Amino acid sequence: MDLAVVLVLCLSCLLLLSLWKQSSGKGKLPPGPTPLPILGNILQLDVKNISKSLNNLSKVYGPVFTVYFGMKPVVVLHGYKAVKEALIDLGEEFSGRGRFPVNEKTRKGHGILFSNGKIWKETRRFSLMTLRDFGMGKRSIEDRVQEEAHCLVEELRKTNGLPCDPTFILGCAPCNLICSIIFQNRFEYKDQVFLNIMKMFNENARILSSPWLQVCNTFPVLIDYFPGSLDKYLKNCDNLKSYIFEKTREHQTSLDINNPRDFIDCFLIKMEQEKHNQELVYTAENLANTVMDLFAAGTETTSTTLRYGLLLLLKHPEVTAKIQEEIDRVIGRHRSPCMQDRNHMPYMDAVIHEIQRYINLVPTSIPHAVTQDIKFRNYLIPKVTTILTSLTSVLHDVKFSNPKVFDPGHFLDESGNFSDYFMPFSTGKRICVGEGLPYMERFLFLTTILQKFYLKSVIDPKDIDATPVVNGFASVPPFYEICFIPI
Ligand code: HEM
Repeated sequence: MDLAVVLVLCLSCLLLLSLWKQSSGKGKLPPGPTPLPILGNILQLDVKNISKSLNNLSKVYGPVFTVYFGMKPVVVLHGYKAVKEALIDLGEEFSGRGRFPVNEKTRKGHGILFSNGKIWKETRRFSLMTLRDFGMGKRSIEDRVQEEAHCLVEELRKTNGLPCDPTFILGCAPCNLICSIIFQNRFEYKDQVFLNIMKMFNENARILSSPWLQVCNTFPVLIDYFPGSLDKYLKNCDNLKSYIFEKTREHQTSLDINNPRDFIDCFLIKMEQEKHNQELVYTAENLANTVMDLFAAGTETTSTTLRYGLLLLLKHPEVTAKIQEEIDRVIGRHRSPCMQDRNHMPYMDAVIHEIQRYINLVPTSIPHAVTQDIKFRNYLIPKVTTILTSLTSVLHDVKFSNPKVFDPGHFLDESGNFSDYFMPFSTGKRICVGEGLPYMERFLFLTTILQKFYLKSVIDPKDIDATPVVNGFASVPPFYEICFIPI
């Protein structure tokens, strides 16, 4: 048979198969736009602003609808009511993690971010306990954040009040904080080992959000056809894991079970306690993957929030002045800010919440999956169906008067009747593990910066455009320069 005929036959079979697969589950799934064979609804989605596309579709199909990413149906939850009904009221059933074929090669079901079932539950519970203040022996997490805030300010002082792009320095602080939590000690910002760790995580974050990787996650078959395209990503993962294994071995030789120094020590102690358990959750492999997840989830998110936050403070000098007045009144110029100050700083507290709400850092959260066939509203969603949560639809709900405007007043309203709507860390059983930590970082980092510096823009604040330049998996602020003028 002629090659062209074979190709046409194969393609027709594929088309029929995809049509059959799509229609077979359709009666049970929520409504949505008609998918094309193989491509699904991908052409109706703007990959640069998925959140906006979902918003438009919700106007036609309602708060719960189905879109096809390739041949994969994805159920979208849009608006507070739908998100609450699913992630909170049916928390267990909606607590699965959607598939990430690209990461399956590296995580192999371990860690927290991409794991499911027993490994996820146990590792998540253990990490939450350990990350709590005083979870790691004598040195509290707050101590570590304060130490890093102090170093951050010293680094900013070196810019001598000249215009600078703050991306690198604001990237160092959150990454170093995770280093301090995981490996006991922080690094100097010029330390080659630290710079390498940061480079590899940054590179991987960039690769993961590239359009090509999104395509690979939608059409996993491409990963087998173009394995080379993942080389850099996989190599970085291997190098990072080797470093974590090496650190784990060093920790083993000096471990004191009565005095854990950091996350690795705590994990090793648990490993020893659980070594006779048949279901091996506490293994060196799981430790390495969990550490990778804490870095991946906890560095770029916080540094982008800080960078975006400073841009908003530049654009709104009246807000910055009010914070500085509050700092002067409550803390003064010489004492280091601490978390207790928060109770006396309602304005700063409101600004921090408003930054996180307004920037809407992870507009569609991280995909979930249902853990069993589930009846939801009048639909039947089959087990392992991917669930996408529009956090934008909640954070920018009209419950916040003028939701598109940056206004700390949103969080100074005494009635606080929108507090349930504040979910930048998602909600339910998969809610961000770091949840308390990002708050502490934003509060202590930003308060310490504003205690020591005036912020000066290189252009008229009125001309600053704070619209995100990328609004895909994460919301990324535009490039800007800033001067840190010592007070
Ligand atoms: C401003 C900073 C941060 C934001 C906006 C943020 C937001 C999020 C969001 C939206 C999720 C997805 C939740 C879901 O699947 O429903 C998540 C998950 C997660 N975050 Fe964060 N995060 C931040 C910082 C951190 C930090 C500092 C850490 C670690 C120390 C961290 C660790 C994690 C982990 C491990 C998960 C996976 C949870 C799971 O699958 O059970 N995050 N985060």
